[in-house]
Amino acid sequence: MNILVLNGSPRANSNTKAHCEAFMEGARAKGHEVEMIDIAKMKITGCLGCEYCHAKGEGKCVQQDDMQKIYPVLTQWAEMIVIASPIYYWGFSGHMMSLITRFYAIGKPAATKYAMFLSSGSPGVYDAPISEYKSILRFFGATNMGIITANGDENKSEAKLKELRDFGLSL
Ligand SMILES: Cc1cc2nc3c(=O)[nH]c(=O)nc-3n(C[C@H](O)[C@H](O)[C@H](O)COP(=O)(O)O)c2cc1C
Repeated sequence: MNILVLNGSPRANSNTKAHCEAFMEGARAKGHEVEMIDIAKMKITGCLGCEYCHAKGEGKCVQQDDMQKIYPVLTQWAEMIVIASPIYYWGFSGHMMSLITRFYAIGKPAATKYAMFLSSGSPGVYDAPISEYKSILRFFGATNMGIITANGDENKSEAKLKELRDFGLSL
């Protein structure tokens, strides 16, 4: 299947990105088509709440930023999305949150049936983002395929990278 990985870490030497890459290695070895977008490198601002999309835009967002490149991938290509984000203040990174608010224009990504949540932070900080991830999935009507978190020394460890590769292979 087609898998879109949304990497929400802005860091060059990111734990989250290394974990995404291990997952992608496994998923590709299994024969899936996988693409990753470093959303922090793109210009994606949060939803303005202007309602243009629902009032007269017919599902098109009025903001002409890089989200316009991602909308067609979400609506026509990505059968699975991976929401990958470090924990920032007990939630998703701001980059990820901005992107998520922009789903508002399309309601739900039409092609997406499956999802996964990948995160990096400290022990005990995942309740709120996991709850939000699950709520988003319910709204999308998508199935959770897995949630993998990493704390402290687990980050980029051989064991964690293997867990992620194996998870990709299991899909
Ligand atoms: C702005 C900011 C806020 C953070 N807030 C939290 C937090 O609330 N809880 C936590 O456990 N870690 C927090 N962290 C630490 C990161 O989640 C952690 O270092 C993570 O591994 C970074 O992932 P990355 O390398 O993929 O960016 C924060 C880091 C930053 C820069």
